[in-house]
Amino acid sequence: MCQSDLRILWEVGILGLLPLTDTTYYQYHGMHSCNTTFDPRANLMAISVKNLLKERKYPSILTFLVFLICITILFFTNNATYTIDPTGFYPDVKPLVHFSSPTPERQKLPLKGEPFLLDANIVWNPCKGPLAADYIPCLDNFKAIKALKTRRHMEHRERHCPPSSPHCLVPLPKGYKVPVKWPKSRDMIWYDNVPHTKLVEYKKEQNWVVKSENYLVFPGGGTQFKDGVDHYTRFIEETLPAIEWGKNIRVVLDVGCGVASFGGYLLDKNVITMSFAPKDEHEAQIQFALERGIPATLSVIGTQKLTFPDNGVDLIHCARCRVHWDADGGKPLFELNRILRPGGYFAWSATPVYRDDERDRKVWNAMVTVTKSMCWTVVAKTLDSSGIGLVIYQKPTSSSCYQERKESTPPLCENKDRKNISWYAKLSSCIIPLPVDASGNLQRWPMPWPLRLTGTPPSLSIDSDAGDTFFSNSRHWSDLVSDVYRDGLSINWSSVRNVMDMNAGYAGFATALIDLPLWVMNVVPIDMPDTLTTIFDRGLIGMYHDWCESFNTYPRTYDLVHASFLFKHLLQRCDIVNVAVEIDRILRPNGYLVVQDSMEIINKLGPVLRSLHWSVTLYQNQFLVGRKSFWRPGRRN
Ligand SMILES: C[S@@+](CC[C@H](N)C(=O)[O-])C[C@H]1O[C@@H](n2cnc3c(N)ncnc32)[C@H](O)[C@@H]1O
Repeated sequence: MCQSDLRILWEVGILGLLPLTDTTYYQYHGMHSCNTTFDPRANLMAISVKNLLKERKYPSILTFLVFLICITILFFTNNATYTIDPTGFYPDVKPLVHFSSPTPERQKLPLKGEPFLLDANIVWNPCKGPLAADYIPCLDNFKAIKALKTRRHMEHRERHCPPSSPHCLVPLPKGYKVPVKWPKSRDMIWYDNVPHTKLVEYKKEQNWVVKSENYLVFPGGGTQFKDGVDHYTRFIEETLPAIEWGKNIRVVLDVGCGVASFGGYLLDKNVITMSFAPKDEHEAQIQFALERGIPATLSVIGTQKLTFPDNGVDLIHCARCRVHWDADGGKPLFELNRILRPGGYFAWSATPVYRDDERDRKVWNAMVTVTKSMCWTVVAKTLDSSGIGLVIYQKPTSSSCYQERKESTPPLCENKDRKNISWYAKLSSCIIPLPVDASGNLQRWPMPWPLRLTGTPPSLSIDSDAGDTFFSNSRHWSDLVSDVYRDGLSINWSSVRNVMDMNAGYAGFATALIDLPLWVMNVVPIDMPDTLTTIFDRGLIGMYHDWCESFNTYPRTYDLVHASFLFKHLLQRCDIVNVAVEIDRILRPNGYLVVQDSMEIINKLGPVLRSLHWSVTLYQNQFLVGRKSFWRPGRRN
């Protein structure tokens, strides 16, 4: 049927009840003739309403009319949303159409997956050495660490990536099993999966971790909370009721977290904590945390900025975290100031707060000087029933104090000193000014959780384009996750706890999964737009990373890794085999990799994953689902 035929049907449908004259009809039709050769039958179209009635064609016309009215009504009522679709960027990816309210039938239908069978035929070897099963390429580069001139500022705990990415595969520890499921895993994990017992001995008095038959058990103790972490978090909130865990304070950073029981228990109060600590003598602490299903990463307060955004965190916590906050004129504290949102808190529980020996007094006095110079105020200082002391500082919400300082030391950072993304950037000796919007208004505190997840993030630029992009991105992810990811890709979501989004954007993927018992590490790659503060504004966590290098995590720490349109940019700088080896390292056996990308990328990645003995399935020519197996080279599988 040509365009003019359709037009006729439309006109008859919409205008059929109008007294259409022969003349008006001919005029209109004449302007819209078919682009095909002349067909005398087209003249049959040239009929008036009178003729239609005479020729008794009206029953079929009436049927069309009713049909078209139904279609029109459906069109205006079904609320179809055609959202901005990043697939538009890739010519060989079919754009997806999402419906904001899919029928239950639609949701239940899994997409048809085709097994991907091409194999890259690569010969793999296991990583060697006593640490091979726990290998972290950028933290275990002993040659580079040995060559360091100094370790005074924890340089040996910072990243030192090998010049070329390793191509070996990490072996499994003997007896490795599918990890204990959340929420049981918060309290106990398989000993065989992380067979390290130093902390059982060293921290026996403090109840960090206990060995019990085949399990390691975590009773919820810590250096500053021998009476249990629940008692301790209650004590913090009683000390400063404005904290309101899970409502006012949603995003926390726990510096020097130990086995991350602080963050693990705060999850019950709807608080998400990014727990971090270095790979140091507190053997496997972060490995324990991740095996427990608690958000955590390896990082250190040393000479470089942390890979977290400016002005994003609601509260930073340090319980005896062994950081010399006042060192180098207070640079580590300037770094906390950078990361805290205006009005955010620093809760510090350590001996200088409540002990009076000379060393502690000296540290306390230095803290007073530096925190005052940054315009922080002490909002609470107290002792709990067990004699543990706590001080809570607050970052200012107004710039007036900066201007009123007698000396501008530390100075406010100027724009030229600022590098947006903190990635291998040195700690700075200036403090960042408070963020303001385009009209010069100071940035406000986010809405209470959970409203902040879907409301306008305070750091979003106020121009309307930014708002439109943000909200249509959220709709896009909400539709895609419910239409495709949740039911269409044959993923057993009940087995998924630790999720990594390699290219998080505004964390639309994580937001769309918020009702599942999992957490997402939202990674903003260093060459993508910096959306990380917005992610924190939403009440979620994440960090910067360059996927041409290895991530600061132990092997087998994520259940699902997601990458949406990441590889095109990435592969301009690095090799797909290296990226695949890294994903294989951080994924648990049975874990999933879900990639949405062009067929060009899928055809490169699929064969490499197959050569790793993964199962690989392709959906709709744009979603690749890879599932890692228990296979390892050189092992009887
Ligand atoms: C005594 S433990 C306290 C652990 C935990 N906060 C608790 O209360 O149970 C000290 C912690 O600080 C960490 N740590 C030491 N130096 C650090 C640094 N420079 N940056 C971050 N964490 C550090 C250690 O790895 C360890 O996790």
